[in-house]
Amino acid sequence: MKKIGVLTSGGDAPGMNAAVRAVVLTASQYGIEVVGFRHGFNGIFQRDFQPLTAADVRQIAHLGGTIIKSARCKQLPEPGGPQQAADILHELGIEALLVIGGDGSFRGCVALSQYYRGQLVGLPGTIDNDLDGTDLTIGFATALETALEAIDKIRDTADAFERTFLVEVMGRHTGYLALSAGIAGSAEQIICPEYGDTVDVADIAADIRSYQQQHGACSYIIVLAETMYPAGAAALAHELSVQSGTECRAVVLGHLQRGGSPVGSDRILATKVGAYAVEQLVAGHAHMMMAGEQAGQAVLFPLRLTGAQHKKADPFLLAWQDRILQQH
Ligand code: F6P
Repeated sequence: MKKIGVLTSGGDAPGMNAAVRAVVLTASQYGIEVVGFRHGFNGIFQRDFQPLTAADVRQIAHLGGTIIKSARCKQLPEPGGPQQAADILHELGIEALLVIGGDGSFRGCVALSQYYRGQLVGLPGTIDNDLDGTDLTIGFATALETALEAIDKIRDTADAFERTFLVEVMGRHTGYLALSAGIAGSAEQIICPEYGDTVDVADIAADIRSYQQQHGACSYIIVLAETMYPAGAAALAHELSVQSGTECRAVVLGHLQRGGSPVGSDRILATKVGAYAVEQLVAGHAHMMMAGEQAGQAVLFPLRLTGAQHKKADPFLLAWQDRILQQH
């Protein structure tokens, strides 16, 4: 193998740079040239790429974002898109493509695999931690720390004013971030898809009232997973204020959770799966696989199955939080 490509795609996640570094440094041990496509799959269509040498990636593991940029690509799912992307990869002599991203990016790989003759390999990069086949995804640990730091700070002001706060966190269709940040931040209430698809405003308002009757005027923090309340966090906070008779403020953490220097565990996960992916590529085992980590071991998992959504937020913690809520 002489030349491979790497790209970062979809929602950026802290640790993507560490993964790029691991890919490039490992490839260089085998004398393989690496090309970084910029802005995700768009870089293929637009022939927007840059050579990545060991020198280019030497000091990037601590950086948030991604040095080769990320994007969601509209062209790849369009009719003729996968064929065109494959033709360009063949023309450029790219013998394998490593895609660092989430389930949308891996669906792109599945489409591309119909026409592309090289190996396609995924690395799990998303703050959502919603991919099957790996215990954790690159970026989740950092996003959790960021959300938690915010919740801790909100707790200070919530305590000072004895207010209720609704803190919205990311996570698309899964409650991993909400549950983890809520438990670690001692949230009184966590609203996430794992507890049901709808929000019972009257029930939560009643809990706020009974909690404050029990404990006196005090702070009350609700962690809300995005998409749970279509009208938005501000609308839900307003409804809760009206129905509970106490002031409820909304804070949307949003893209703040995607930024920042990756925590150590994200850098290590990214390095491990990045290096493992290249080694498995060289051995010829990695086509249409994602390199992930399960129970501390680097593993390969079929790319097609990563989006099956069998991975569920920790059932033990979900049940525990629910029991704590019943004690209010
Ligand atoms: O998948 C990562 C993620 O940050 C989700 O948590 C969120 O729903 C989505 O991306 C936001 O996407 P965008 O940055 O395109 O608004």
